[in-house]
Amino acid sequence: MSEHAFEAAERAAVYRAIAERRDMRHFSGGEVAPEVLARLLQAAHQAPSVGLMQPWRFIRIRCAELRQAIHAQVEAERVRTAEALGERSDAFMRLKVEGIRECAELWVAALMDGREAHVFGRRTLPQMDLASLSCAIQNLWLAARAEGLGLGWVSLFEPAALADLLRMPAGAEPVAILCLGPVETFYPAPMLALEGWTQPRPLEDFLFTDAWGECR
Ligand SMILES: Cc1cc2nc3c(=O)[nH]c(=O)nc-3n(C[C@H](O)[C@H](O)[C@H](O)COP(=O)(O)O)c2cc1C
Repeated sequence: MSEHAFEAAERAAVYRAIAERRDMRHFSGGEVAPEVLARLLQAAHQAPSVGLMQPWRFIRIRCAELRQAIHAQVEAERVRTAEALGERSDAFMRLKVEGIRECAELWVAALMDGREAHVFGRRTLPQMDLASLSCAIQNLWLAARAEGLGLGWVSLFEPAALADLLRMPAGAEPVAILCLGPVETFYPAPMLALEGWTQPRPLEDFLFTDAWGECR
């Protein structure tokens, strides 16, 4: 054991947050205390980022009409997604894929404008800005679970339309609608697995040695 390791209970808490984090779509309204919200946002902001560019921007949606408009955009995309799914369309429409109207807090996570000025780590991999924002969202997700709050990541929307709605500058890009707040209970497993939409595969299927597909 490394001399830098956390205490056993602290390690267990980290692994527990990772294992018990769930993508939540069922919320029980209520609210998130300001000091808790501040901790969650600070956790997001402590994420790693390529070249320390900190490309994340978070927009809190407080206006009820705006929340309704965002829900309408997601609903329209949900229908388009179902159409694109063909024979699985009906099964998809039966899934709950967002909790926008019920969650205590609604946030939109976006990539900042002017990202082309950041070359460090992005010359060949420009998508590292998205990877960095994803790290911030994951921090938020894990911290929320530790605080007993659910978070749901919604990506069913047309980015240009949402950017327009939120008056984002050219070059900025919305990436996630985040539903956050109290929940009755956390799903014991990914909801898509519980609903029989798909099943997760074990880690062994994804580990290779020396070359893709090689398991030695
Ligand atoms: C990038 C990303 C986008 C996602 N978009 C949606 C979404 O639009 N709607 C939804 O219901 N779940 C969405 N999810 C949640 C996934 O369905 C979920 O993470 C997956 O089924 C595993 O479940 P778990 O997060 O509870 O472990 C998204 C997750 C990620 C990481």
